[in-house]
Amino acid sequence: MRAAVYERFDGPLTVVDAPDPSPAPGEAVVEVLAVGLCRSDYHGWHGTDPDIVCPHVGGHEFVGRVVAVGAGVQRVAIGDRIMVPFVCGCGECEPCRLGQHQVCRRQEQPGFTRWGAFATHTTIPYADVNSVHVPEAVSDEAAALVGCRVSTAYRGVVEQGRLQAGETLVVHGCGGVGLAAVAFGRALGAQVLAVDINRAALELAAHVGADLLLDASTTDDVGGAVVDLTGGAHVSVECLGSAVTATNSILSLRPLGRHVQIGLFPAATADFPISRVIRDELEVRGVHGLSASRIPEVLAMVADGRIDPTAVIHQRLSLADIPDALPAMARFAAPGVSVVTRF
Ligand SMILES: NC(=O)c1ccc[n+]([C@@H]2O[C@H](COP(=O)([O-])OP(=O)(O)OC[C@H]3O[C@@H](n4cnc5c(N)ncnc54)[C@H](O)[C@@H]3O)[C@@H](O)[C@H]2O)c1
Ligand SMILES: [Zn+2]
Ligand SMILES: [Zn+2]
Repeated sequence: MRAAVYERFDGPLTVVDAPDPSPAPGEAVVEVLAVGLCRSDYHGWHGTDPDIVCPHVGGHEFVGRVVAVGAGVQRVAIGDRIMVPFVCGCGECEPCRLGQHQVCRRQEQPGFTRWGAFATHTTIPYADVNSVHVPEAVSDEAAALVGCRVSTAYRGVVEQGRLQAGETLVVHGCGGVGLAAVAFGRALGAQVLAVDINRAALELAAHVGADLLLDASTTDDVGGAVVDLTGGAHVSVECLGSAVTATNSILSLRPLGRHVQIGLFPAATADFPISRVIRDELEVRGVHGLSASRIPEVLAMVADGRIDPTAVIHQRLSLADIPDALPAMARFAAPGVSVVTRF
């Protein structure tokens, strides 16, 4: 196979020949059809993900066609078009038995705990538990984006945020995750306020359904500005991963509001306004992807047009572009999402 490898964090990437993967018992191997570039891939390359051991191949948001299955695999056959959530659960531990595979105790994450899909081929762990067959009506590009950012946004807005029609949602950071969060807010019939510092990102947010836009670079009091515009949000999702935006998110809420933390932090702890959480009895919830068991609900929303992940694709790349495109994410240069479609 061919794969975009880095030998050290923040080091150069090169597309090299590597041995074809062969599936261990319970695993499947896919030929990758499409893979997105998520900011978590950038964090991984930058060295802030403790699961990654170099040399490494990232890529965790993908769809592929099965080319080999290991012993014992029953739900997946050669030729199937499948995708997996970025957190692949074991199917047997306590969270998995509760249907919460996204917090599995023995989870595997292609692109983090093992080599991922910035390659012509990758291996699916616990294939019977995690493989989701992709409906005909869903394109490769859309299915790839569901693998991480679209399903993560669904988990944040629909499941953890429990957003209702008529409520107000505010989204802090309108990249791949945030734009999907805006689209789910729109699909649910909420009023949506999108916050970013990049005009092009805000324009994309309007394109996928934001009712109100706020350029965070124009004020020192983003939370206060959100409250002025909306009366305070019922649900606020943080889709960047910084103490500033997490604080803005909490200060955007009305009493009893729900803050959902999706963006990953570079450090294990963070400062945020706990006094406001207490005073207004706010809820603070995390998100760690979405269980494979609920991805068909997201794919159904894509298939019938309630959500269109491809509406925010900014660039379609080839595998050979990854060595430049991944480090370039440091500059937040490209609004929307980038997807590799040629291998
Ligand atoms: N918890 C999970 O399960 C999960 C899953 C996927 C991604 N993530 C994380 O979510 C975050 C977002 O990922 P992405 O791929 O959407 O990133 P992205 O780079 O596509 O988007 C980030 C957006 O934040 C905006 N931004 C930067 N500074 C800002 C500020 N001060 N205020 C408001 N907006 C600002 C940028 O302009 C950009 O539009 C990352 O931390 C990623 O690692 C977490
Ligand atoms: Zn991701
Ligand atoms: Zn498990």
